[in-house]
Order: sequence, then C-alpha cells, then structure tokens
Amino acid sequence: MSAYIRVENLYKSFKTKNEVNQVLKGIDLNIEKGEIYGIVGFSGAGKSTLVRCINRLEEPDSGKVWIGDTEITALGKRQLTARRRKIGMIFQQFNLFDSMTVFKNVAYPLTLEGVSKKEIEKRVDKLLELVGLADKKNAYPGSLSGGQKQRVGIARALANEPDVLLSDEATSALDPVSTLAILDLLEQINDELGVTIIMITHELEVAKRICNKVAVLENGVITEKGSTRDVFLDPKSSTGKIFLEVYKEFRQDYSFTGGGGI
Ligand SMILES: Nc1ncnc2c1ncn2[C@@H]1O[C@H](COP(=O)(O)OP(=O)(O)O)[C@@H](O)[C@H]1O
Ligand SMILES: [Mg+2]
Repeated sequence: MSAYIRVENLYKSFKTKNEVNQVLKGIDLNIEKGEIYGIVGFSGAGKSTLVRCINRLEEPDSGKVWIGDTEITALGKRQLTARRRKIGMIFQQFNLFDSMTVFKNVAYPLTLEGVSKKEIEKRVDKLLELVGLADKKNAYPGSLSGGQKQRVGIARALANEPDVLLSDEATSALDPVSTLAILDLLEQINDELGVTIIMITHELEVAKRICNKVAVLENGVITEKGSTRDVFLDPKSSTGKIFLEVYKEFRQDYSFTGGGGI
C-alpha cells in the first residue's frame, strides 16, 4: 500500500530580478497515515517552503504532492481551497487575531464555512476542552502565555476536523515546559483523532520526543531519512551529525560536570 502523503521530486525556487534561489531540489517523501513525521534542518534549509508546498500556499515549480487518492498539485483553485480546509496548520508565531477572543479565533474557520451558530458553539467548546482552555473562552490572546496561545492555534487548526496537521516550528517560541506540554498535546491529538502530523523543527529534542520518523533537510535536499531512533543514534548526514553533537553538548552542560565529561 502506498503512503498517505507522497511528495515526488518536488522543486521550488524563488526568483528575484537578478537571481534564482533554488530552495527545494527534488524532494521525495512518503508519510504513512497516522504518523508523526519530523522534518529537521537548520534555518534556511527550506523546511517552511516544503510544508507550504504541501498545501500549496507556495506553488511548486515541478513535482507532485499526493494526500490519499488526491493529487494536491493537480487541483483547481476551488477544489484546493476545499481540500486545504482539511489540512490544519500551526505556526511558531501562533498567527492569532489579537482583537478576537479565544472563542472567536477558534470559531473563525467555521464561520468561513457557514456553520450554524449553535453548531459552532458546540464544536468550539469541545475543542477548547480538548486543548485545556475551556476557562479562557472569553479571554483575548494578549492575556495568554505562549503555551496557551499555541493551544488556541491548535484548537483553531483542528476546527475543520483535518486529517493532516502541518506544524511549522510550533514549539520554537516556547519555554521548555510549555514545549513539552504542547508536544504531549500533539501526541494526544495524533492518538485520539488519528491526525497525521508533519512536524517541522530545528530542534532534535522535539523530533526525538514525538516523531516516529524523520527526514533531514539540508540546503533543499533530503540527505537522510528513517526511523527517529536510527537517525538519532547514528546520523549519516552532516546536518544530522551536527544536530546530535549539539544535543550532546547541551546534555553535558545539564549534568553540571563543568564540561569535562561524565
Ligand atoms: N516568499 C519567499 N520569497 C523569496 N524567498 C523565499 C521566500 N520564502 C523563503 N524564501 C527563501 O527560501 C530559503 C528557505 O527558506 P525557508 O523555507 O523559510 O527555510 P526554513 O524554514 O528551513 O528556515 C531561504 O533562502 C529564504 O530566504
Ligand atoms: Mg521556517
């Protein structure tokens, strides 16, 4: 059986007047239904561009993207808009509407759909319950912590009952405690709702914590992919090796041995 999300030989460049920046150079990915799949790489590697090509917020130059039986890259504008509603997205900077309450933020995608007021109320209450923010229904984003803001972002992303969730550095602006809580929440959502999650991250700990599989993206090319365990234990790519080195460095610091080893 073929994978649920398939990216085939994807290319994307950005053209300015004087130059062409080739950002994605032939990406192939196979992501199974229900997986939490990590895409790790340094800043500028092309991670955000890659996820944005998956839901065509960016148009790829060439290559194909499939989700289930649907070729995303072949959809017309209308069909794409409809399909995209079932692809949730969360961001590092949360992208909430500051002038709207938590309730209104989460309800927003449903109001676009023309869902009835009563139904919206029911669904938003359930979502706020799921993300642990039932008591913040009438609060404004400005009064929330980073972790709480991301919970609103997650609830909003789930409003249309997506089968795929794209997470672009969703924990990168959070403190370590909130990061762990949000990762636990994403794992719970994956488990309870069966949503396939693509986790973009520049933090190996994040991938290690919740991803079944990872791909390492380096300068627009996937240099390594496999089970998180294999990549983490014995990275082959230079990015993977650097990630692991840095991870170990920090661990050593945390052990308070003064940097002199174990
Ligand atoms: N909309 C855009 N227009 C022009 N260049 C872009 C655009 N988006 C991304 N880029 C360029 O693509 C490269 C990869 O960026 P990005 O996908 O954001 O990387 P990452 O998410 O891994 O940090 C960078 O060189 C960036 O400047
Ligand atoms: Mg990015």
